[in-house]
Amino acid sequence: MYGIIATWRMALEGISEAETMLEHDASAADALETAIRAVEDFEYYKSVGYGGLPNEDEEVELDAAFMDGDTLSIGAVGAIKDFANPVSVARCLSKEPVNNFLVGAGAEKYAHKHGFERKNMLTDRARTHYHNRLVEENQKASQDRELKPYAGHDTVGMVALDQQGSMAAATSTSGLFMKKAGRLGDSPVIGSGLYVDSEVGGASATGLGEDLMKGCISYEIVRRMKEGMTPQEACESAVAELDEKLKKKRSKAGDLSLIAMNNKGEWGCATNIKGFSFAVATENLKPTVYLVQFDENGKQYFEEASEEWMDNYMKTRTAPLIWK
Ligand code: GLY
Repeated sequence: MYGIIATWRMALEGISEAETMLEHDASAADALETAIRAVEDFEYYKSVGYGGLPNEDEEVELDAAFMDGDTLSIGAVGAIKDFANPVSVARCLSKEPVNNFLVGAGAEKYAHKHGFERKNMLTDRARTHYHNRLVEENQKASQDRELKPYAGHDTVGMVALDQQGSMAAATSTSGLFMKKAGRLGDSPVIGSGLYVDSEVGGASATGLGEDLMKGCISYEIVRRMKEGMTPQEACESAVAELDEKLKKKRSKAGDLSLIAMNNKGEWGCATNIKGFSFAVATENLKPTVYLVQFDENGKQYFEEASEEWMDNYMKTRTAPLIWK
C-alpha cells in the first residue's frame, strides 16, 4: 500500500506527481519533497513559497519542516528569506546529526553553503495584496484590526507512505500575512505542525499556529493512532478537544485543521472551520480533492469537489488583482 494526504486543494498537482512516483516505488520522502516543491513553486498560492504574502515589513519569511518516520530525523527552517524551496533545505537539515532547526540568517547561511537556489520570493501580486491590505486595515477602527490566517489558504502539510512501509511528513508556509518579522507558527515546529512515525502514522496541521501549538496537535494525533484509533477518530477527537479547551480557557479558538494517514494507508481529516479542503491519493484512490462539510448537527463529512468548484478555484486564484 502507498498513499499521500495533504492540506488544501492547492496540493493536488503536487500529490498527483507524488502518487505516480509512489506507484513506481519512490520513497515517501522523495515523493513528499516533490509534492511540496510543486506548491512552493506555483506563484498564485499566496501562503506558501514563491508568491507567499509578506510580513508587516513587506518581507517574505518562510517556514518549513521535514520529518522522516523511519528514523524520526527532523529538519526545519524558520523565517528564511530569498530561497526558492524551504522544504528542501529542511530535508537537508534532517540529515545533520545536530543543528536541525535553523532560523533567519543562520538558515540562509546554511542554504547558501549547500547550494540551494536563491530567489526573490516577493511577487508583484503579493506586493499588491500587501498594499491593498494596508488600505483596508487603515479604513478599520483600531480595535477591529486582527491578524488571521489568510482566508482559504494556509500551510501546505503532507504525510506520505511508500510501498516499503516508510513514512514521511513535511510542511511549508509563509505563515500569517502581516505577521511580525521573526514570527514563527506551528509549521516548522515538530509535534505541532507535523509528526510522523512509520510504526504508527503521521499528521500535519494548518490554521492558526499560535493555537495549534497549544495542543502539540500533530503529535497528539499520532499518539492517539498508536493507542488504536483510526486516523479519522484521532483527528476528530483531538481537534474537538483542543477547540473545546481553547474556548473554555480563552473564550475563542483559532482555525485548526488536521490531516493524518496511518501506516496502512488509512487516512483522516478534521477541522473546526468552514471551507477546508484536502487532497489525498492512495493505491486505491486516484488523486482527489475533498471539501469538509458539516450537517445540521455539526457533524463533519467529506464531499468530493465538483468540477465547477475546481474550475472556480483556479479562476479565483489567478484572477487579476487591482491595486487599490
Ligand atoms: N499554520 C501556519 C502558521 O500559523 O504560521
